[in-house]
Amino acid sequence: MPNKTEPEKTFTLTNDQTGESVKLPVVEGTYGPHCIDIRGLHKATGHFTLDPSFTATGSCKSKITYIDGDEGVLLHRGYNIKELAKESTYLETCYLLLYGELPQEKELKEFEDVITNHTMVHEQIKEVYEGFRRDAHPMAIMCGVVGTMAAFYHDSLDIWDLEQREISAHRLIAKIPTLAAMAMKYSKGQPYVYPRNDLKFTENFLHMCFSVPAEEYKLRAPVVRAMERILILHADHEQNASTSTVRLAGSSQANPMACIASGITSLWGPSHGGANQAVLEMLDEIGHKDNIPEFLERAKDKNDPFKLMGFGHRVYKNFDPRAEVMKESCDEVLAELGIDNPQLELAMELEKIALNDPYFIDRKLFPNVDFYSGIILKAMGFPVEMFTVLFAVSRTVGWISQWKEMMEGSTLKIGRPRQLYTGEPERPYVPMNKRK
Ligand code: SDX
Repeated sequence: MPNKTEPEKTFTLTNDQTGESVKLPVVEGTYGPHCIDIRGLHKATGHFTLDPSFTATGSCKSKITYIDGDEGVLLHRGYNIKELAKESTYLETCYLLLYGELPQEKELKEFEDVITNHTMVHEQIKEVYEGFRRDAHPMAIMCGVVGTMAAFYHDSLDIWDLEQREISAHRLIAKIPTLAAMAMKYSKGQPYVYPRNDLKFTENFLHMCFSVPAEEYKLRAPVVRAMERILILHADHEQNASTSTVRLAGSSQANPMACIASGITSLWGPSHGGANQAVLEMLDEIGHKDNIPEFLERAKDKNDPFKLMGFGHRVYKNFDPRAEVMKESCDEVLAELGIDNPQLELAMELEKIALNDPYFIDRKLFPNVDFYSGIILKAMGFPVEMFTVLFAVSRTVGWISQWKEMMEGSTLKIGRPRQLYTGEPERPYVPMNKRK
């Protein structure tokens, strides 16, 4: 992974019509492709660049996460996701993402205490839930209530105040699980379950989701471990769509609650975080392994909008390392819970056939993080509609860490992409009686 080639210092761009050339600086990072810094391009050439969907455009420098798509490697502050998933906890990973280093024991304890003591939400937030239909999608509820946090915690919205940024980050990491559990309870018509400070973060979250007044939720070690891993695996992922949304919202100096709410809306799409729900729906639609060939043909058919959900990735052109860990957890949880899950068998058969199909091989389409996560979440008792909410619970720390990194940067410039205008040339207004 370390760069082997001697780094170029400049890149020369030549206009083939006029012969004019411009030298652009090349910047290199710790790993990954070097970047051509094009900030001076328009001034020097009068041209913009065009890269719809940002397939080859870097939006920022970041020290938080690195993905090697060809090798299928994911690092958080230099630590491999496979080691973090195995050895760390979600709150320790949160600390690492936020502050850049693994905490000392005392630092971790203090951080855990801060988060624990912020898990309750303002009692009046319950009224906000009452405004939703009971059958509202929990992601719709989350878009609403997370944005509403700015109406309840306005004492920590000064984005230029380091301490207030810190408090907002802690409140978001601590309270979004509570709001998520409330969304699940609201959708089920069950009473909300208050957080308990005697429980660790992940146990507390499961308790708020599954306890009922009639019966305390029994915490089972394999389920807690699987939930912990799922939270670690989804925590951050470079400049994905929802993180880029958060950064762009933050660049206008919007408050952190509003920025995280914008991340939730972007994550909801089935091409992004909504894929975990879509995978389960797809497996239900396929129904039986005999139907797999028909669905693979549909996935290849450009005239058919059907895609193989949970497959493919903009960056990974190899196995998504998170999918590998997720699959191990799948086997473990289902075995320990004694659940014989036909959907897992179907998913594994689908993966096996797809990975031997030239269409998927040629396009380097491998299972991504969403392919197996839904199977575990369903086995743990979560309704399908909650899957993307759980992704948002985990990714909140990635979003707020990236927002924090942007706010700590030397300058905060509003993000404002340009475009190539291909519409009508200027033309005079036509009165109604003259229109054809
Ligand atoms: C996440 O960015 C991140 O880091 C996201 C994420 C994170 O942690 O934040 O990793 C989380 O969003 C994971 C991805 C979850 N989405 C899905 O599983 C939905 C199914 N996947 C596809 O929609 C797609 O693969 C994307 C959106 C994930 C990536 O799309 P790209 O990079 O824009 O790829 P593409 O559409 O340009 O595809 C290249 C080719 C195309 O065929 P050709 O035009 O070359 O013939 O591959 C085909 C695509 O049609 N293709 C698929 C496919 N994914 C890509 N064909 C069938 N099924 C698929 N799933």
